[in-house]
Formats: sequence, structure tokens, C-alpha cells
Amino acid sequence: MNKLSIGNIKFRNNIFLAPMAGITDLPLRLLAKEGGAGLVYTEMVSAKALVYHDESTKSLLKIKDQERPVAAQIFGGEASSMREAAKIVQDIGADILDINLGCPVRKVAKAGAGAKLLANERLVAKILETVVCSVQIPVTIKIRVGLLQGKNIAKEIINIAQNVGVKMVAVHARPASLGHSGKPDLNAFAESCIDAKIPIIANGGIVDEKTAQAFMKIPNCSGLMIGRGAIGNYSIFERLESFFSSGKILSKPSKTEKIQWLEKHVKYLIDNYGIKKGLGAFRKVAYYYVKDFPNASKIRFMINTMISLDDFNAILDNLYENYGFL
Ligand SMILES: Cc1cc2nc3c(=O)[nH]c(=O)nc-3n(C[C@H](O)[C@H](O)[C@H](O)COP(=O)(O)O)c2cc1C
Repeated sequence: MNKLSIGNIKFRNNIFLAPMAGITDLPLRLLAKEGGAGLVYTEMVSAKALVYHDESTKSLLKIKDQERPVAAQIFGGEASSMREAAKIVQDIGADILDINLGCPVRKVAKAGAGAKLLANERLVAKILETVVCSVQIPVTIKIRVGLLQGKNIAKEIINIAQNVGVKMVAVHARPASLGHSGKPDLNAFAESCIDAKIPIIANGGIVDEKTAQAFMKIPNCSGLMIGRGAIGNYSIFERLESFFSSGKILSKPSKTEKIQWLEKHVKYLIDNYGIKKGLGAFRKVAYYYVKDFPNASKIRFMINTMISLDDFNAILDNLYENYGFL
């Protein structure tokens, strides 16, 4: 795996954390960075909300130097608001501006944005060209192999993107119609990469060396992007870096290490949001930390009902006591 650089940004490795709304906030991005991620992405934010100076939207783009390089992701269906939002993202200090062309959720589709845009190549070209011309930071996109299974359009979108100066494309190897479930379509991904002249990053179902290597074997696949497989499992970035640089397979995190990541995550959430909101925010990701633990549903229930730092410390003591030796 040759280390990528785009513009004057050099990545530590080509194994990136996927953007995930409601999940990849600053605390989680810092953890992914500590686990060795070469690049982290903010959650997607609405271009229009940014342009209207919505403060809660802006707060989603809070960036810290320790997490650099960081890409900020925006979505929108109009060239003019995307241009203005791109400038705001640049002023905020993001290293890369990423455009979401893959999200199938209703709210985003209603704005004519995300995966919906993939059906309109002319508008994609207009938006991408407008945004690339309006900022100095590199512009990247994240797309799907297609909207419907068997109807792949990623190759055409990549062609449009590289012609207007987009620097890198992440391809989620599931069609938008499948949402985030189902098997990634490696053949569709391979087809999308064939004529690519810019780096193409593979995404979808990467959870270990085997699933990572299946993508990396594909010609023109330059790197990997990991979503759910990285939550509570941040050393996956270091493990894959080691695997691709030396062939060495490092051991998976023990339960003790998972509890240590959990403890750190809650600490970062409290530092960022305060105790009440921080503890509440952890509920969104608790499943990923404890899913392999015996009594996972009981632990999750305790996490979902904790309301004070004392509650959390009691859960933590319980976890170390019962599983800390595994
Ligand atoms: C809860 C959740 C939120 C997501 N939010 C975003 C988002 O804001 N922007 C985006 O481009 N993709 C988003 N995605 C898609 C992920 O970036 C990724 O493409 C998807 O999870 C597949 O990768 P994985 O199989 O490694 O999880 C989201 C996925 C999940 C599960």
C-alpha cells in the first residue's frame, strides 16, 4: 500500500475512518486517530444550514489539531449553497472538504442531495466544479457503486469528478437501495475503479485483514475506509497498517482493551459535552463496545439508564471486575 498524499496533505496510512452522522463527533475521531486512522471525517452537515449560520450545525465541525488531517463532509443539492458552505468549511480550518453523494436517508434525499444526486450527472458536474473552484483545500467525494443493485454508475461519477479536479473518491460498495446492510459488491467496486486516475478508497463491510485485503487486491484501489467496524475497535487502523506494510497480523483487542477504550470514550464525551449530554451521547455507540461481551444486553441496559458519573463508575468497576481478565 503506497502512502497517499493529496495536495500537501500526507496521510500516515491509507486507512480512513468513515463519516457517520451522530457518531463521528470530535471524541470518536480523536479515538480513531489514537488507533492509527490516516484520515478522519466529520459527520455530514447540511450546506444550507451552514450558510444560514446555524450554530448547532457549525458545532458539528469543531476541529482539534490532534485529529488532523480531518475532512469535513457537507451535503446539499444546489451549487450556490454548496459553494458558500465550502468556503465556510475552509474558514473553519478543515484540511479537506468532502461532499456526500451516497446518503440515501429521506431528509437528505428531500434536499435533492446525497445519493439522490447520483441520478443527475449534469448537476453532479456543476456542483463539483463550482465547489472545486471556490476553495483552495482539496475536494473529495463519497459515493455509492450505484443507486440500485446491478445498475452501477460509480465509474461515470468518478470520471466526472476527476475531470473537474476532485482529488479522491471513496466508494461505498453497496448500492444506495441497500442502505448500510447487505454484502458489499466487490465486482461493482472493481468496475468503478477501472479508469480512475485519482485515488479510490474502498468502503463497506471492512472489519478485519481478510475483508480489507479483498478490496486491496482490486486494481486501482488505493485505500480503505472503515465505518462501524472501527467503533470501539480503534486499533483496527494500526492492525491493518501493520498487515499491509509487513504482513504481520496483530492480535485483536482483548476485553480489557475494549473497556479501556470505552472508559476513554466516555471521558472524551464528558470533556466535550459535559456530564449529562456526554453520558447520553455514549448510548449511541454502547452496542459496539459490548456486543461480544457475555450479558451484552444487560450491560447496555445499565449504560442506557445511567444518569450520573457515579452510575458510570459503577458500570466501569463492574466491567473491569467481571471481564477485565479476558
Ligand atoms: C449511523 C451511520 C451514520 C452514517 N452517516 C454517514 C454520513 O454522515 N456520511 C456518509 O458519507 N456516510 C454515512 N454513513 C455511511 C458510512 O460512512 C459507511 O459508508 C457505511 O457505514 C458502510 O461502511 P461500514 O460497512 O464500514 O460501516 C453512515 C453510516 C451509519 C451506520
